[in-house]
Amino acid sequence: MSNIRCIGIGTGGGDAPGLNAVIRAATKAAILKYGWKVLGIPDGFDGLIWPEKSFELTQREVSGILPRGGTILGTTNRGNPFSFNTVENGRDLVRDISDQVIANAAKLGIDAIITIGGDGSQKIGHELFKKGLKVVGVPKTIDNDLSATEVTFGFDTALHTVTDAIDKIHTTAASHHRVMVVEVMGRDCGWIALEAGIAGGAHVILIPEIPFTLERVCQHVAEREKIGKHFTIVVVAEGVKLPPELKENRRASSVGNLIGNAIAAGAKKEVRVSVLGHIQRGGSPSPFDRILATRFGVAAVDLIAAGGFGMMVALRGESIVSVDVAHAIGHLKSVDPQGEMVRTARAIGIGFGD
Ligand code: F6P
Repeated sequence: MSNIRCIGIGTGGGDAPGLNAVIRAATKAAILKYGWKVLGIPDGFDGLIWPEKSFELTQREVSGILPRGGTILGTTNRGNPFSFNTVENGRDLVRDISDQVIANAAKLGIDAIITIGGDGSQKIGHELFKKGLKVVGVPKTIDNDLSATEVTFGFDTALHTVTDAIDKIHTTAASHHRVMVVEVMGRDCGWIALEAGIAGGAHVILIPEIPFTLERVCQHVAEREKIGKHFTIVVVAEGVKLPPELKENRRASSVGNLIGNAIAAGAKKEVRVSVLGHIQRGGSPSPFDRILATRFGVAAVDLIAAGGFGMMVALRGESIVSVDVAHAIGHLKSVDPQGEMVRTARAIGIGFGD
């Protein structure tokens, strides 16, 4: 029998469409299924540094947030209580304030915490768990690069956003006979570029997992010219590994611009570049993301009731399961360059610049 009376919920790291759906589902399930009190912890673990900022989440508080992007709790990708940046007597210091964070959770009467976040937030949650805080995790990232779960919510919505952008770019590309470079998110892995590239009918997809050369990309453009296709759409993941001739300028410009300029020079074509940026993280979550987020929220509450601390909910096949956070963190799910998805793309003539 669980002796939980009050839980806290916090969101950490970059936002993703579906965070509010998790908050809503977890709050409702905690109240309706278990009769617990729920506290919202603002701005990731920062909210436990200033406990007075936490507030009660009631059914009224979470009403209407299901279709909203972002997070009503706020988030940060800087707040780490184990290396907290502070200024004391005019000097910049880094302090471990994890004990204070745990004491503040107890002061608020929080018996267990749901941490909704990516790899970084789950790592912090796990360190706090090792120090005694009862934590369960809900994975999140639009990049879909966590190996512990088949899919993360936010990814599907981002795919819709990017596919819609590529569709729009398609018509202007064809009309002006240009090469259009579309830079998308994906810091370490190329899932957004690959899947939105396929969905949007891109001609070249450049991802971190497949090294490319400018020569091959320009050849692809030239081959399309030969068959009367005077436009080419190149989708580039922001984390792509640049060839040596572009590497040293990486910090000076976006990879999309660097690659776009190089294609303009190499293929002798007019090139335009669109860096989609943070619009990929915004917007109303898709039905798929709302459902997955709702399932994760309810499963996290059930995990607390079952005493599954130090665990994280995940999607495996058709089922929501729980996995040990210690095994889940630090394992990226990369695109397999020999995998079925890449082979499918190659079979329909999509080039990877290799
Ligand atoms: O991890 C999610 C992500 O959207 C990455 O794709 C991107 O590199 C990063 O976050 C951007 O973070 P920030 O909001 O700090 O610019």
